[in-house]
Amino acid sequence: MINTNSYQAKQFNLSGLNGISDQTLEMHFKLYEGYVKETNKLTDKISEFLRDGQVDQEEVPAYSELTRRLGFEYNGMVLHEYYFGNMKQGGPGDPERTSAFSRAAEESFGSYDIWKADFVGIGKMRGVGWAICYENPANGRLSNHWITLHETGNVAGFNPVLVMDVWEHAFLLDYKPAERPKYIEAFFSNIAWNVCDERLKRGVAARSVAGRVLG
Ligand SMILES: [Fe+2]
Repeated sequence: MINTNSYQAKQFNLSGLNGISDQTLEMHFKLYEGYVKETNKLTDKISEFLRDGQVDQEEVPAYSELTRRLGFEYNGMVLHEYYFGNMKQGGPGDPERTSAFSRAAEESFGSYDIWKADFVGIGKMRGVGWAICYENPANGRLSNHWITLHETGNVAGFNPVLVMDVWEHAFLLDYKPAERPKYIEAFFSNIAWNVCDERLKRGVAARSVAGRVLG
């Protein structure tokens, strides 16, 4: 039996950011809560189809459509949690050179600056979506990716380390549509690099467990 309504919207203690207004954040939290509700609603509806133990032939079109939408809503929910979770008031701008993130960026890209040029370049790409820095949990390597909408381009099994929303709703109350670079600059000044380091450590722990299992 599928559990329904299992997700609760998380609360984020986030305000007073640099260049991203509280008004934007409040609107964005509401939008995020909509993804949580939709994820629960879709899961609920899909479970109704399965109640008799099978998907009846006449149910296939509706079942298929709802299931396709589930990827959009689920990723919309989860990515916003990563995004809000990797921001804080009074961020340092760039990470400490000796931090776990800086070291991983250097190992993967040659330098933090090259990593940043790639990440910011992806963030400025035209279209609706996300810039995400992932860690490959198998080897610790970082790579940056463009995600269209919420669900197209995510890499299966990779660990999201830094997640930046570049849908226009993330900045339109504060900037003009063509001013996305200013929003990206503001985003960088609010990054909670300590959270990114924590996320990396989780990848390290996973590799060490996998190493013990495989070794
Ligand atoms: Fe968003």
